[in-house]
Amino acid sequence: MSTATVVNTETQTRSLGYKTFSIGQLKFERDEYFANISYPGGKHIIPIDAFLRSLMRDVAWGFFYGTVNFDSVFGTINHYGTVEMFVGLLNESYRSANRHYVETFDSKDLKGVFEAMLDDWTNEGFDPFAAPGETGVPFGVKHGNNSKAIRRERIVAKRMVGLPGDLTLRDDAMGMKVNRQFTDIPQDQPEVHAEPGFEKEVHAYNAFGYVSRSDVTWNPSVLSCVDDSQFCATTEEHILPITHGNDRVEWFIQVTDQIVWDVEDGKTGKPRAKVTMKAGDVAAMPADIRHRGYSPKRSILVVWENNDGSLPKRYSSGELPPYPVEF
Ligand code: PHB
Ligand code: FE
Repeated sequence: MSTATVVNTETQTRSLGYKTFSIGQLKFERDEYFANISYPGGKHIIPIDAFLRSLMRDVAWGFFYGTVNFDSVFGTINHYGTVEMFVGLLNESYRSANRHYVETFDSKDLKGVFEAMLDDWTNEGFDPFAAPGETGVPFGVKHGNNSKAIRRERIVAKRMVGLPGDLTLRDDAMGMKVNRQFTDIPQDQPEVHAEPGFEKEVHAYNAFGYVSRSDVTWNPSVLSCVDDSQFCATTEEHILPITHGNDRVEWFIQVTDQIVWDVEDGKTGKPRAKVTMKAGDVAAMPADIRHRGYSPKRSILVVWENNDGSLPKRYSSGELPPYPVEF
């Protein structure tokens, strides 16, 4: 056997300038290229670019609906108040060898650790929300930070962008440049002719023109919210950083261009379907799968979510079938 070099990871990470983070029995260390996760029973490694892009979404979305898989091994499950962090829980091989590990945290505690880790591990010039072609790289020893990019605040209208007393179109996205790949999105605005007396109640604007200026990818923003019905528009380019396992049915409406979806069994990760969605296509993602999208050119997708908090239990108990329609 050739001579081995023993690397003391603690010392090494310290000399690279990154902080080490721990919560419960899990420890997170970053080096120049990787996030290294230690847990009782083993270690797991994830490329740092993929890890930071996933971490950014898990933080920004407050652990999202259901499961956020960073890869086929590591992720979080939202129980809305508490969150499970797991290694191998939703991986058939880890499960059958009983090598999985799960720990439950208060959501706010885990969010605090994830936010601090994202802040410390993101170098100057890297924006985890941007398409790879529109940002620098995350690699190397610690240099600077990008707090501005990772603390983006959502801009929230009271009723609707453009209504009197609310955000004006120029307050938000319409003040930004149309994305380089969305020069074909029409930018004209609808004409609104309200009946006298209804000028403050009737309004319209070009939502796709609005969204075409978004500088983030794979980040649903609520476009309309009526009771539990949420239409969320998003601009997609490259790969959805997480593989999402929803705890309810969600619908996708492909507005422009094309996304290919890998659909796997939500518990085991076994492949279930490849779905190619072209502009105008609508699909329901069942409640028992997980999915990851690939968008070769920037595209607009609308995700329709049902925010009813009773749904996860109704699906997991079998009261509701995992698909929305019986043909
Ligand atoms: C999803 O997992 O359903 C999802 C997440 C982010 C997106 C689009 C879809 O941008
Ligand atoms: Fe999803």
